[in-house]
Amino acid sequence: MSLKASLASGPSTLDRSSETPVRVLRPRRASPDQTVRPTRAEIELGALRGNLRALRKVAGRARIWAVLKADGYGHGAPAVARTLERAGVDGVAVALLEEAIELRDAGIRAPVLVMGGYYGRAYEELLAHDLVPVVYDASHFEQLARAIRLTGHAERVLVHLKIDTGMSRLGVRLEELRRLLEVAASFPQIGIDGVMTHFSSADVAGEEGEQAMVEQLSTFATGLATVRKAGVAPRFVHASNSAGLLRAESLASERAVADARFDAVRPGIALFGVSPSEHLGCPDLKPTLRLRSEIVSLRTVPKGTPVGYGRTFRAERDTVVATVPAGYADGLPRSLSNAGSMLVRGKRAPIVGALSMDLATLDVTDIPGVAMRDEVVAVGEQRGPLGRDEITVREIAELAGLIPWDVMTSISRRVPRFYRDF
Ligand SMILES: Cc1ncc(COP(=O)(O)O)c(C=O)c1O
Repeated sequence: MSLKASLASGPSTLDRSSETPVRVLRPRRASPDQTVRPTRAEIELGALRGNLRALRKVAGRARIWAVLKADGYGHGAPAVARTLERAGVDGVAVALLEEAIELRDAGIRAPVLVMGGYYGRAYEELLAHDLVPVVYDASHFEQLARAIRLTGHAERVLVHLKIDTGMSRLGVRLEELRRLLEVAASFPQIGIDGVMTHFSSADVAGEEGEQAMVEQLSTFATGLATVRKAGVAPRFVHASNSAGLLRAESLASERAVADARFDAVRPGIALFGVSPSEHLGCPDLKPTLRLRSEIVSLRTVPKGTPVGYGRTFRAERDTVVATVPAGYADGLPRSLSNAGSMLVRGKRAPIVGALSMDLATLDVTDIPGVAMRDEVVAVGEQRGPLGRDEITVREIAELAGLIPWDVMTSISRRVPRFYRDF
């Protein structure tokens, strides 16, 4: 059928195509047993559990739904989910249906919330994998009801309703809420089990962030009242990401403190030991990720020798250059060229020259005793004969003009994740 004809035939084409089974693709990553190169990410599962405990203290009675989208913020979602599930997390949340299926395939039994709101032609997969979709549009209810009918699904399907309170991204706007609740009421086989929203500025310092959060909470309260007036009694009300959760403690108004945590919170980055903002401390959080490699080539070049693509660095003295097999294709921001550093023997060595796709070059002239196969740490802590130092995700993000979330989720699939659990 030509494109014109298929457009002209309208919904029936869509209907027919939606009966074609959908193959949901899964993400793939290098596995440790396929590893030759010494570059790898090390994930501290003990630190992850410790961070969950620390956040529990802040969350009080609110449940914790761990946000594990983007492959668990680059840590490997199945292993992270398994660890948190054993440690008693109340649920997990992802963005994509594909991510949710990956967790179910890995044996995760905890409730899984799918937050992205796009289910394409794969609504039946939501039912088959016992997932909780986030909905905010009449078409979500209609498509879900259709999948329930087609599969003969017997149980009531539970969903979380998202209200847009200030992100203008996903979620039903207040003006549309009543109408949507009417649509929802016409599908008794679908139950609104949760009502949620998302903060835009909980990590923004000072009055500005606080004001935005209070405004969003007020809009959310209006939405919640409308929901309850329509006879819906959700078991879960949730709004807070890591910043909302950590900030709830410091909000001036007592009422807001209670409100921001509601029945559940959705921390992501804080679980991985990174505070969402410098001004939001949580003393017990420990970084869970370390990116390490080894020196694979060492040379001494005379003063004046250029290093790397574009000759952006020229040795100002006779210089010992160490080559490390980690580059921008592994997720290190290229803007660390001639700006960042890595740890060798417990001390910082500057990155010199342009970061290549697969390699970085360090000036190790001031690292006494440096040798081939020495460990190099690009992210995380190192202790060595020359001392102890740490390169944080936030430090890299700031140097590179990025945010910590970006740095974490950019570590690419060719970097194998090794899990350490002491
Ligand atoms: C809807 C929603 N909730 C919670 C989170 C977790 O955010 P954070 O990593 O800042 O804790 C995210 C992540 O962006 C999100 O999109």
